[in-house]
Amino acid sequence: MKIALASDHGGFELKEYIKTLLKEHKVLDLGTDSEVSVDYSDYGIKAGEVVASGEAYFGIVVCGTGIGISIAANKVKGIRCALCHCPEYARLSREHNNANMLALGGRFLTKEQAENIIKTWLSTPFEGDRHIRRLNKISKYEESNHASH
Ligand code: RB5
Repeated sequence: MKIALASDHGGFELKEYIKTLLKEHKVLDLGTDSEVSVDYSDYGIKAGEVVASGEAYFGIVVCGTGIGISIAANKVKGIRCALCHCPEYARLSREHNNANMLALGGRFLTKEQAENIIKTWLSTPFEGDRHIRRLNKISKYEESNHASH
């Protein structure tokens, strides 16, 4: 499975660690490539576009809190980016929300916590069923909103 990975400077260290966890996947590292200050917006949008286009199946993005980069990714049509602080959120974001991107807070998680979240997120399938109806409402809104601009 191809996974897009991106961070700003606040998530750089954790992003580099995440790469070592994803050895059995193809990883598309979209940067950043150092702790020099950059804008999370650029990286969240870029990773979102790569996932929305189908170039990568999933995306994992990291900034200091995970908030900014998840907001940015969620502006891309078709992206459902879930900011997860624990494995339970990760599980539910896949089962109920069919999240196609995961956002993490690099300054608030230990490597072990991040690893547990990622493992759970990647191994949990979408439940479908009633959740499809709810997600369809978001897609429909997205379609109409974009069509009117
Ligand atoms: C950068 O200092 C910080 O604002 C960013 O990493 C992130 O936490 C934003 O939401």
